[in-house]
Amino acid sequence: MTARRLLTELPGPRSNEIAQRKSGAVADGVGTTMPVYAVRANGGTVEDVDGNVLIDLGSGIAVTTVGSSTPRVIDAVRRQVEEFTHTCFMVTPYEPYVEVAERLNQLTPGDHDKRTVLFNSGAEAVENAVKIARAHTGRQAVVVFDHAYHGRTNLTMAMTAKSMPYKHGFGPFAPEVYRAPLSYPFRDSGLDGPGAARRAIDVIEKQVGADNLAALVIEPIQGEGGFIVPARGFLAGLADWCRREGVVFVADEVQSGFARTGKMFASEHDGVVPDLIVSAKGIAGGLPLSAVTGRTEMMNAVHAGGLGGTYGGNPLACAAALAVIDTILEDDLIDRAVQVEHLIKGRLEKLRARDDRIGDVRGRGAMVAAELVLAGTTEPDPGLAKQIATYAHQQGVIVLTCGTYGNVLRFLPPLVISDAELHEAFDVLDEAFAGVAR
Ligand SMILES: Cc1ncc(COP(=O)(O)O)c(C=O)c1O
Repeated sequence: MTARRLLTELPGPRSNEIAQRKSGAVADGVGTTMPVYAVRANGGTVEDVDGNVLIDLGSGIAVTTVGSSTPRVIDAVRRQVEEFTHTCFMVTPYEPYVEVAERLNQLTPGDHDKRTVLFNSGAEAVENAVKIARAHTGRQAVVVFDHAYHGRTNLTMAMTAKSMPYKHGFGPFAPEVYRAPLSYPFRDSGLDGPGAARRAIDVIEKQVGADNLAALVIEPIQGEGGFIVPARGFLAGLADWCRREGVVFVADEVQSGFARTGKMFASEHDGVVPDLIVSAKGIAGGLPLSAVTGRTEMMNAVHAGGLGGTYGGNPLACAAALAVIDTILEDDLIDRAVQVEHLIKGRLEKLRARDDRIGDVRGRGAMVAAELVLAGTTEPDPGLAKQIATYAHQQGVIVLTCGTYGNVLRFLPPLVISDAELHEAFDVLDEAFAGVAR
């Protein structure tokens, strides 16, 4: 029995009807990866309005780590919604917010004293991490990296690297944001992690100056930029330099956090303890919640009333987050992420052995990617990535692409997906590579 159920072509007639209505009602600027309209979703599958069932290798972009309709999360949200939906934590506060903060202070790397503040989206939390770093240091500059993605608000657009589609036509951008070179092992021709850190630090010292620098913000494993895992020693080298220079080291773990990479936070793979850590996406099973957690002396540098927002730490989202944390810990989902890594990498490595258009297979846990190139070279092949993804979509497998060059297939399924569902999805990908002419 297959996990997929394909009753119509994809998209089916009912999806096409709604897509027509979308064109007439929703701004064109909001794109969709697959115009297949969902009605329900669970651990590893999404059902559409035509009754088709698709295998989900995207988790709504790294959000539904514990699944899309996990009973613990549903029950927690249902209990909370029956009590109250909102009072605003800045008006009459409530315990679940405090409890989420306590749990995050405990779960994030480092056993130093920490504080947490909650927001709604990843971009909002990244902006607030910068506010906190500036308040703490009294400095203004922010360093980010090549291929980085930090969001779509004005400051986070400035921090994001790729112009089209994220920044094109939307300037001017926030000032005092500087970009340094990343460690990108597939394209760095032998440069090791410490060497790549020295290269970045040299750029920062020459072009920004440590004394002007409030924060260095980095994704421990880059998300939209191409699931790039920096060489060992790169993050640690940067973190050491930040400590020496009084620069706040901020880990943007919006995509890599919350068990996705086989650790609660990806920084742990490199033994790095960030000063501030930004969480979102996987934190609340699909309800909008984000957080900044960090050293108490930094977090508390901001004056009273300087942090907040109407909905930040909404009680429904907090109830969901507490249930997500329990689910991850009680169901050993961190270990499951490691199993998912072995299964996916095993399948991709086999494919790579017979297809030299797969230049690199990389990633950690359930955050794995294949970088596609012109056969036998390192020249990016975004056209191939698009053809493979389109084939998978037509066959009922939700696959996302990413990367500065648009040539990376990324695999980030819910951690509760079954091995059988994963194998079925990768059988489709095998067919896709076999079918696309070289
Ligand atoms: C690393 C990283 N930072 C920030 C963001 C922005 O998060 P949001 O879309 O919730 O604003 C994202 C979203 O993809 C991300 O991957």
